[in-house]
Amino acid sequence: MPRPKANAKNMPAFKKAPERRSAKAVPRLLGMKDIVPSEYRYFSAVSNKAASLAELYSFNAIKTPAIESADLYKKSTRHNNDKELYSLDCEKGENGVLRPELTQGILRAYIENNFSELPQPVRLYSIGSVFRKEKMQTGRYRESNQFNLEVIGEDKPMAEALLIAAAYNFFQDLQANFQIQINSLGKADCRKEYIGKLNSFYKERGRRSKLCNNCKKYLGKNMMALLDCKEDACQHLLHEAPQIADCLSDESRNHFAKVLEYLDELGIPYNFNPYLVRGLSYYNDTVFEFWPLNDEGVASSKLALAGGGRYDNLVESLGGRPTPSVGLAIGLERVVAKVKDRLTLPNFKEEVIFLAQLGDQAKIKSLILFEELRRAGFNVRQSFSTDSLKNQMEEATRLNAKVSLILGKKEVMDETIMLRDMESGVQETVAFKKIKDKLEKKVNRKEGVIYG
Ligand code: HAM
Repeated sequence: MPRPKANAKNMPAFKKAPERRSAKAVPRLLGMKDIVPSEYRYFSAVSNKAASLAELYSFNAIKTPAIESADLYKKSTRHNNDKELYSLDCEKGENGVLRPELTQGILRAYIENNFSELPQPVRLYSIGSVFRKEKMQTGRYRESNQFNLEVIGEDKPMAEALLIAAAYNFFQDLQANFQIQINSLGKADCRKEYIGKLNSFYKERGRRSKLCNNCKKYLGKNMMALLDCKEDACQHLLHEAPQIADCLSDESRNHFAKVLEYLDELGIPYNFNPYLVRGLSYYNDTVFEFWPLNDEGVASSKLALAGGGRYDNLVESLGGRPTPSVGLAIGLERVVAKVKDRLTLPNFKEEVIFLAQLGDQAKIKSLILFEELRRAGFNVRQSFSTDSLKNQMEEATRLNAKVSLILGKKEVMDETIMLRDMESGVQETVAFKKIKDKLEKKVNRKEGVIYG
């Protein structure tokens, strides 16, 4: 009998929440998202891809706490940072917050663990959740997961090019449709001059009134925030606004030209976007984002898939030595939403071995064998809670197992195991000791790590 093709349809059905919930049911908090098992598979596949790519590009994994000191974020303000942070009741004198980004925690760990003594640059990656009390919109959650890459201690433009190349290849592998937006913000002096120009531009008659209410509040206080506004009216005004490129120093101009030259050499397409500023204040020189393309091939800034840039002063401002650095973060929920339909789940390619047992002795022996096979990387499944062999074999069929191993009283006595090829139905008796070698020839092994 031909094996049914594995796809999302033959995954276990998870019951939908009843339409009418009891008044006692406690709902999810606003802006929070459940990653239910049917979606978790995609989430896990994307996270695994991210981790293996990071390792390939010589990044080392780091995990930092979800709760950090609020002081860590003072120097890296966003437009609405104070409102966005979730504050926590910590020990006396401690002002804790749920991290809104991974970057600062990684830099704190870099400083605290004296990573500056290591050969530079230090390349670190991390996958974890971030928390932002954001205005709610589709694709914008208050808890979301990021894949973060930081190259700490590198001032050369090659660092940006390699980082962008890593993210570019990640999205290419996932067959996502996207466009890279890139700009240079220059150094503080360039920005001061530019902000003056922006002030004059927005003060001109008729412009102020067209801005959204939020941007009106930023006028004169945070002019760069106006460029980052996603409201259509503000975006419309942008087209006539002055460009920061006209204020760049020779040093910044040369640095940026080199980044673009490397991208050209690597064959990585990009869109020079003179109004890309990113919502974070710690960047200097290169900034970039990965924008999704819709079915018509139009790029949209609203649900950026990733963003990053150079931050040469942040480590020092957090108490470390002057350490030029560059980094980026990819939003995993947004990537999953974008690529889910075309993603081939690696899990589905791994062939399932089903381990069936009959009788107490067989169950014990199966448990030991199960662990052995699992550790050897086989995608082994079981149903230890079921005694009926018929039910177990039905489960093996449902899981689309390539082979089933059946262990009964007789097999335990003879130190053998029955191997059934689920496609042909052919069974053979194999010596227990030889089962791993036999399976290696018959089924694919599992690869990669599963992230929680
Ligand atoms: P960010 O642009 O704030 O940068 O976030 C990076 C990515 O996380 C975004 O492009 C988006 O895909 C995702 N993301 C952000 N906020 C949300 C949200 N509310 N819901 C869903 N997804 C979201 C940073 O966080 C910087 N730390 C990046 C960086 C690393 N710069 C240097 N190193």
